[in-house]
Amino acid sequence: MTPQPAILLPPLAVGQVLTLRLTAAQQAKPLLRVFAALAMDESLVVGFGWHFVQAVSGNVPGLRGFPAMTLPESAGGAAVPATQADVWVYVRAAEAGAALDRVLALMRSLPGGLTIVEDVATFTYRGGRDLSGYEDGTENPQGVAGAAAAIIADGPLAGGSFVAVQRWVHDQSALASAPATAPVKRTAQESFGPPAFMLRRSMPYGGAREQGLYFVAYGADLDRFERMMRRMAGQDDGVVDALFRFSRPATGGYYWCPALTDGKLDLAPMVGAGGVEAMPDVAV
Ligand code: HEM
Repeated sequence: MTPQPAILLPPLAVGQVLTLRLTAAQQAKPLLRVFAALAMDESLVVGFGWHFVQAVSGNVPGLRGFPAMTLPESAGGAAVPATQADVWVYVRAAEAGAALDRVLALMRSLPGGLTIVEDVATFTYRGGRDLSGYEDGTENPQGVAGAAAAIIADGPLAGGSFVAVQRWVHDQSALASAPATAPVKRTAQESFGPPAFMLRRSMPYGGAREQGLYFVAYGADLDRFERMMRRMAGQDDGVVDALFRFSRPATGGYYWCPALTDGKLDLAPMVGAGGVEAMPDVAV
């Protein structure tokens, strides 16, 4: 079992992120046939939400829906919304055309049954900075430590990963006068017990009207992200992270990114050892 290679690789010049929702539970099984046959390379990450897993009576311990949070009133009505969907696809590429080709090829191969909830083009900004100007990802655990943070080490999900994703919308006026110190003060990974190491692969997105950060964090479990998010959102002690002064999350989802066997998604936790063909028809 090996991890999906694109998880461990840094972002390229562009990314394209799709969030998809099942139109009906019966569609899950034919879709899994296609996903099981997909050639997974360094340009693609695929993750499944809990509802998809449930629709095929799969068992992915630790996967759950994204938790919405309400911030203290001092945060001016900001909230951490949950917009959980069923499939998450991240494409990384050296140029936008290649990313789009990959996305369209994938969409054409699907038999239907998924609607596009969100389609976000992301890009590298000034060599890996957030649009606020801060270099993003420098505190990521490196090499073996990065893999240990992001990839499930043992058990039936070994080689797989969980991902927490959020699209953050920056406040343009606040961006112009961004504070001189890095915004995130309350997320030092070592300051959590146990330490909450994760592998962040966030990228800026947007244009003239709206812009922000597409936040992506891989972890061997979802608890580490959730503990950090709770602290940032003032759920522990009422103190909200300074980040909320210039940015707000608009979306939030949790997905499970299966390991690979022979370059293909290992869907055994969803379909059983017999593979997709041996699955019983999905009862709805
Ligand atoms: C608009 C959204 C965000 C922006 C612009 C942002 C930006 C940054 C920047 C500039 C750093 C310092 C450099 C680095 O290590 O990357 C950082 C660190 C970090 N951020 Fe974020 N961040 C955002 C959201 C989040 C969220 C939602 C989480 C998790 C819930 C998070 C977790 C972390 C962690 C774990 C670190 C490393 C801290 C350390 O170990 O010292 N960030 N972020």
